[in-house]
Amino acid sequence: MQIGVLGAGRIGQTHIINLAELPGVTEVLVYEPDANAARRVQEVATVCSSAEEVFTRSDGVVVATPTSHHPEDVRAVADAGLPCFSEKPISLNLADTEATIAYAAAAGIELQVGFHRRFDPGFLKMRRAVESGDLGELYLIRAACHDYEPPHESYLPTAGSIFCDMHIHDFDAIAWLSGRTPIDVVARGSVLVDEMFARYEDVDTSAAIMTLEGGALAMLTGTRQNGVGYDHRTEVIGSRDALSAGLGPQMPLRSADPGVLQPVDPYPSFPVRFHQAYAAEMAAFVDLVAGEGPNQCPGSAAEDALRVALAADLSLARGSAVRIDEV
Ligand SMILES: NC(=O)c1ccc[n+]([C@@H]2O[C@H](COP(=O)([O-])OP(=O)(O)OC[C@H]3O[C@@H](n4cnc5c(N)ncnc54)[C@H](O)[C@@H]3O)[C@@H](O)[C@H]2O)c1
Repeated sequence: MQIGVLGAGRIGQTHIINLAELPGVTEVLVYEPDANAARRVQEVATVCSSAEEVFTRSDGVVVATPTSHHPEDVRAVADAGLPCFSEKPISLNLADTEATIAYAAAAGIELQVGFHRRFDPGFLKMRRAVESGDLGELYLIRAACHDYEPPHESYLPTAGSIFCDMHIHDFDAIAWLSGRTPIDVVARGSVLVDEMFARYEDVDTSAAIMTLEGGALAMLTGTRQNGVGYDHRTEVIGSRDALSAGLGPQMPLRSADPGVLQPVDPYPSFPVRFHQAYAAEMAAFVDLVAGEGPNQCPGSAAEDALRVALAADLSLARGSAVRIDEV
C-alpha cells in the first residue's frame, strides 16, 4: 500500500517515519515545499513535486500541513476520492470544520483526525477502567500538558490559541475517556514564558476547569515551556481506583521529598512521549485505508473538541464560565 503525506514538518516527519516502518506500507510519498524539510525525509520516503502527484500514486493521504491549510487540503484529498487523515484541528473555525467534514462525507471518503491520545496504551487502559466500572464512580480527570520548549514563532500565526492548538487534545481525550459530554468550562491564562505569545493575542500558561455531564469535573493545566522536559499526564480518579497515563521514570517532574528517585531521561518532546500512540494512530489509518478497521477518530471528534476549545477562549476573554452549547 502507498500512503501520501502533505507536509514534513514537526509532526509530518513523525508520521512519515512511523508509516515507513509499517509492514503493509510499501511506499510513503511526500509533498513538502520546503527543500530542507523534504531532504530530512528522503531516506524513508519518495519526495514528490506536487500534491497532485502524491494523490495519483497513493491509496490514502495524511494532511500534516499548517492548520490554516487543512480545510483546503482535506477537500483536495476528498476530490481525489482517497481516505484522509487530517492533523488537528481541521480548522480553527467551527463553520469551516463542519463544512469540511460534510464535504468529506459527501465525497464518500473516510476522514480520521489526529487525536493520538486515543491510541496511547495508558489512555486506552484508563478508558477501559471507566467503561467497565472498575474505576467506580468517576469523580475527576486531571490533565497536565507542559511543553519542554515553546514552538518556533513561525508556528504561531496559523496555529490558533493554546486551547485550540494544544489543549484541543485534552478536550477530546477528556470526553473520550469519560464518555461524557462537557457542559461548561472556565479558563484562565497568563503570558509568562515569552512575550511572542502576546503578539498573537495568546497566552502561554493556562488552566481550565470543566463540568462534565453528571457532575464529574475535569481540570487541565498547560505551559508552553517546562524546565525538566515534555510533561504530559492525564489522571482519572474514581471511587475504586485512580490511574495515570504518563506517570513513570521518564515523567519530567522532580520530587521534593527526600529519598524519592528522580526522573531518568525525562521526555524531551511529544514524539518521544507519545511514540507508541503516534505509531498506533498511523497503523489504524492504514487499516482504515485497507478497509480492515473502523475509523477510531472520526471528523466529528474535531468538531466536538473545537467547540470546547472555543468556549475556553471565550471564558478567558470574559473572565467567567461559558456553557459549551453557547458556542
Ligand atoms: N497531533 C499532534 O500531536 C500534533 C503535534 C504538532 C503539530 N500538530 C498539527 O500538525 C500541523 C502541522 O504542525 P507542525 O508542528 O508539524 O508544523 P510545521 O510548521 O513544523 O510543519 C508544517 C509543514 O508543512 C509544510 N507545508 C506548508 N504548506 C504546505 C503545502 N501546501 N503542502 C505541503 N506541505 C506544506 C511546511 O513547509 C512545513 O514543513 C498543525 O495543524 C498542528 O496543529 C499536531
